[in-house]
Amino acid sequence: MGQARNGRAEWFELSEEGWRRSNRARPLGQLVREALQNAFDQRASRVKVRLEEDEVRIEDDAPAGLARDEFAFTVFLGEKDTPPTWRGRKGRGLKEMIASSDRAEVETVGRTLVFDDTGRHVKPNTRRVGTCLKLFRRTSTREREDALQLLRLTLPPPGVELVINGRAVRPPRLKDSLEDCQLETVELHRGVERYVERAARVDLYHPRPGETPHLFELGLPVEPHHLPWHVDVQQRIPLAAERDAARDPYKRTLAAIILESLAPELSRQELSGAWVTEVLAHFTLGPEALEAYVAKVLPARAVLSVGPRMDDRARQLGAKVVDLRGMPLPAVEQLETIVESASTYVERMEGPPKDILVNPGPRAERFVGLVRCLSRELIGREVRVEFFERKARDPSAQVDAEYDRERRVLRVNMRGQVSLEDPLESRTLGIVLHELAHEAGDEHDFAFIDRLESFAGRALRCLVDRPDLLAPYASLKRRAG
Ligand SMILES: Nc1ncnc2c1ncn2[C@@H]1O[C@H](COP(=O)(O)OP(=O)(O)O)[C@@H](O)[C@H]1O
Ligand SMILES: [Mg+2]
Repeated sequence: MGQARNGRAEWFELSEEGWRRSNRARPLGQLVREALQNAFDQRASRVKVRLEEDEVRIEDDAPAGLARDEFAFTVFLGEKDTPPTWRGRKGRGLKEMIASSDRAEVETVGRTLVFDDTGRHVKPNTRRVGTCLKLFRRTSTREREDALQLLRLTLPPPGVELVINGRAVRPPRLKDSLEDCQLETVELHRGVERYVERAARVDLYHPRPGETPHLFELGLPVEPHHLPWHVDVQQRIPLAAERDAARDPYKRTLAAIILESLAPELSRQELSGAWVTEVLAHFTLGPEALEAYVAKVLPARAVLSVGPRMDDRARQLGAKVVDLRGMPLPAVEQLETIVESASTYVERMEGPPKDILVNPGPRAERFVGLVRCLSRELIGREVRVEFFERKARDPSAQVDAEYDRERRVLRVNMRGQVSLEDPLESRTLGIVLHELAHEAGDEHDFAFIDRLESFAGRALRCLVDRPDLLAPYASLKRRAG
């Protein structure tokens, strides 16, 4: 080739030994993937791969075969102007496969390029279509099995038959196709790579049993990923040097696009994966996707935890308190925009204007007397009683009674279960003891349980020691009977 146009030819010499060593070290599946890439780019309609102990063979029927001999031996030589939908780009793949072998033959239209101990030769042949690449090298059973596992994932372009070790590769079941996904990609202009944003279709497939979901570039598996499906991007993906990994920000953007478009149709299980939390931590989702996530992943009537006291109250009022402490902050902040907090919920459920004070008159006298008597005995002070009717939108906002610590008032809901006629009825007694036990705190914590137990014990003891103490509060019926 002589002197390059910019006059800087012959600065380097390639160490063939080093080039071979680095390619020999690459996994077999990744090397063969290069041949599939080339064949698909050249519009082959049938590609056959055979992996044997001492030979790897890839044959295609691409009409023209190899356009130039140099494509097989000049490293970094390939097509120089290619669109984002073209797979090859570095001008290396074919050379890498040959370099990884002890001996190789590229049998293409009209000639065979031979690479052996004595060097490189070209001999004529009668082949009229396609290329057969024969790589002579020993491979272990394990190497071949791993390669098969990767290559069998391949999603051949529509109408292309791919046969690996005599078995046709059938595409898995399509889940969805997302049009117009804006993603970064690579164009090649005069051999120079340019990164651009471009809209592309992304196809999702259900993995076949036993398969790990992978990210694909134009039908070829790039790397395993954490999404529940195979995801095939229909344009070049910006890849790391060995072409076996995409960059993290790219993968996140892709996951966000998929989540944004599919969330309303996904199942609870599909939405519960770590990939969703990861997206929520890095991207602001639209309201529709967020709502779908909340509706499917969080329990019905979920409210966000704010602290033990409010959480407890919200639970009493029928909410399911969810604690998002394990989630990244930006994810929590997004969920907060559509899920009520425990405190907002409580406020909404028991806003003050909904209670109407009532006066039941003499009917309540014995109950009021009982509360006074018990409070004197148990907390050493008299507690007043107030009656109300609660109008609440939500039936679970109804309570039997509540205790106002500041005013030292036991408030009884006339729609609750307190019996004014029979204050010594067991449930009513229970409610009174429960509310009096709130004298020292609103929470239902262990201290509360201790207090309640002590009140119950002391009340029983009273009955034993002073049987007459509670007698005046028994129902008339009972006294008569
Ligand atoms: N099976 C094939 N049939 C026809 N042409 C091929 C085939 N494989 C490779 N080529 C040609 O050889 C060139 C070099 O291939 P390769 O070394 O894999 O680099 P790249 O695919 O990155 O261009 C390709 O650009 C393509 O033009
Ligand atoms: Mg290639």
